[in-house]
Amino acid sequence: MALEQRPVAKLDRAVIFLGPPGSGKGTQAKVLAGKYGVPHLSTGDMLREHIVKGTPLGLKAKPIMGRGELVPDSLVLGMVAERIEQPDCSHGFVFDGFPRTVAQAKYLGEMLKRQGFKQPFVIHMVIGKALLLRRLTGRRTCKVGGEIYNIYDRPPKVEGICDNDSGELIQRPDDREEVITQRLHAYEKQTAPLVSYYRRLGALHEVDASKSVQEVQQEIEQAVASISGAR
Ligand code: AP5
Repeated sequence: MALEQRPVAKLDRAVIFLGPPGSGKGTQAKVLAGKYGVPHLSTGDMLREHIVKGTPLGLKAKPIMGRGELVPDSLVLGMVAERIEQPDCSHGFVFDGFPRTVAQAKYLGEMLKRQGFKQPFVIHMVIGKALLLRRLTGRRTCKVGGEIYNIYDRPPKVEGICDNDSGELIQRPDDREEVITQRLHAYEKQTAPLVSYYRRLGALHEVDASKSVQEVQQEIEQAVASISGAR
């Protein structure tokens, strides 16, 4: 583990990244999870892994994700429950892209209570639509380690090749403009209501996600340190 990734303190709860496609959830969730030494749980990555492996779940999810719609709760909830019951999740974890519906949030709340976790801490990534298209169409992801780049704002040193492990950089099939429009629509309709849901629970922290990666990271780290006692 790299020096800067050595865990600094215990997290003792779930941190949830909530925000529209392209707001930087994956970029920041990965760093935060590394900092606390807890798993980064991206339901999008889990579903894509099922698709690559050709599992029954992957076969059902593939056309739905290809259209930019949400995968039904009936498929997602079991996958998440199975994952957070693993021993590496016993000191907390960072969710990226889950929950995405009020039903998912309620299910998660019950599950966390049963497992003795405190109320989750939700980071709301606030950003205008104009920036999202540039971020999503410019995104490239390493096929090997999953590192996230952007051809406009965060290019690799060598085009198409990951700086970390020389893996091939690929574009996600749902990062085409017509699918992005549908993903943004699904966010507004099904996921945005979670902002007021978590605000009512007093668990929401808003971050200006239009700032640079480093500025956003700093703001998130300060917010999480204030609830976890980390320095
Ligand atoms: P998922 O994989 O979760 O995608 P998403 O929510 O659409 O979010 P993205 O991964 O597109 O964006 P992000 O916010 O993580 O941004 P990133 O950090 O990559 O879901 C995909 C699909 O799976 C869904 O459509 C759905 O079908 C299904 N699914 C997943 N979870 C589900 C669930 N719970 N229920 C039902 N269905 C589910 O950054 C984007 C780009 O911007 C990158 O290029 C990055 O380098 C750049 N960038 C990031 N931050 C900055 C910054 N501060 N400044 C400049 N550039 C930046």
